[in-house]
Amino acid sequence: MRSTQARRLSLSISAFAVVLLASVCPCLLCQTDVKETDLYKALLNDVMSALLKTVDFFGSNYQYVNIDAVFGMRQCQGSLIGVLEDCEQNKLVCPQELRQEIASMIERLNDTTRQANVYTEGQNEVRFSVFKELMQKPFVVKYIPENISSVVEVSVPFSVYKGEQGDACLVNLMGFELLGGAVPRCTVSDTCRWFMTRDGSGYYYLTHQLLYLMIAEQVGCESKLEQEILRNTGVTTRDFQRHLCEKIYCNIRNLSLNGTVDSEMQDLFLEEIAFCGMLGFQNFFNESWIPLILDWQTPQGCFTSPEARDKLQKLATQGRTKFIAIQKLFEHAKFRSKRTEQLMLDGCLSHKTGVAIAAMGAYIRYLVSRVYG
Ligand SMILES: *[C@@H]1O[C@H](CO)[C@@H](O)[C@H](O)[C@H]1NC(C)=O
Ligand SMILES: *[C@@H]1O[C@H](CO)[C@@H](O)[C@H](O)[C@H]1NC(C)=O
Ligand SMILES: *[C@@H]1O[C@H](CO)[C@@H](O)[C@H](O)[C@H]1NC(C)=O
Ligand SMILES: *[C@@H]1O[C@H](CO)[C@@H](O)[C@H](O)[C@H]1NC(C)=O
Ligand SMILES: *[C@@H]1O[C@H](CO)[C@@H](O)[C@H](O)[C@H]1NC(C)=O
Repeated sequence: MRSTQARRLSLSISAFAVVLLASVCPCLLCQTDVKETDLYKALLNDVMSALLKTVDFFGSNYQYVNIDAVFGMRQCQGSLIGVLEDCEQNKLVCPQELRQEIASMIERLNDTTRQANVYTEGQNEVRFSVFKELMQKPFVVKYIPENISSVVEVSVPFSVYKGEQGDACLVNLMGFELLGGAVPRCTVSDTCRWFMTRDGSGYYYLTHQLLYLMIAEQVGCESKLEQEILRNTGVTTRDFQRHLCEKIYCNIRNLSLNGTVDSEMQDLFLEEIAFCGMLGFQNFFNESWIPLILDWQTPQGCFTSPEARDKLQKLATQGRTKFIAIQKLFEHAKFRSKRTEQLMLDGCLSHKTGVAIAAMGAYIRYLVSRVYG
């Protein structure tokens, strides 16, 4: 009895205090703000522990990863380096502990990528020589926070992205030596100009157009790119990136229509978040997608698919598990990406885990800014 009264009394006192304080400081009543920060804090915790698991996974399986996984780790590093910069420059109040955790992941990814490169070179020397430069250091592109406000329908749903052609364009960008001559850095051939700015294709084609622009920036061809894009499309590189991400956003919303993503489409889903997210297009950091993605992660920290597990099962029954690490997987006929998939032990997928780690890095950059901004 007494305690009920006491509680009531203390309730009414605190209610009074809230009213009183609210009249002095209106923001105390912004309950939703408090709740939102809590939500983002919880999401940040979840993504941090998921990322840590994937970093651990790659750290102990570096012999089995392919080039695409190394590239994903480099992209993740770029976002994490961005977080530390945001903490220092943009006056986010990041806890020291968070900074240390992030710095330690950057360092571990340094070690893992270095160890993995010894093996990826042996897997495919030609592709290794194309991507070598990109695998040697963190992948850093300009992150400019913004929301896209329109969704652009893609007129032609898909055309297959031709990987060899795309790789050739990258080789031209980075420049190379030839017997009796050299192709200078930042070369953009007519075919590549067409490839990178052409309209009317979807899926991986779009993400690879965007990737080409990002790689051009990473390897120091920004001003050349700006000229080329302006000449071909009449807009700036950033405007063109936004245009691509508006189309990609239309696609990604289709992929998650049900509140689930088809297992065959999860790789593309992650790639779309990773690429547009790294550039700062915040619509791709939809909160409801995080639990979805984290749910796909296996207990050992990798990403797989039912198809991969089936394939593993078949190989195992043929007694061929030893060769799993060098098995090149199917390429999905309609949505093919040249960034090839590779089956790892336990059915883990190298490319999918690579795009997942890149997406998680981008998510962390966003979530840190929401929680500590
Ligand atoms: C990671 O490696 C790069 C060189 O590739 C080096 O500049 C950087 O200091 C390293 N970072 C850490 C945290 O070890
Ligand atoms: C993007 O939109 C979200 C939610 O609609 C908002 O919270 C966020 O501040 C926006 N970001 C920018 C950079 O305007
Ligand atoms: C999204 O779905 C709509 C209707 O199902 C379709 O018309 C449109 O082409 C799709 N867009 C993409 C990018 O997949
Ligand atoms: C919606 O989900 C069901 C299973 O839950 C699946 O069979 C179907 O293909 C999904 N549709 C789309 C458009 O993703
Ligand atoms: C997040 O995605 C869901 C569909 O997956 C959509 O209904 C919702 O509007 C999105 N939220 C924001 C803030 O864009």
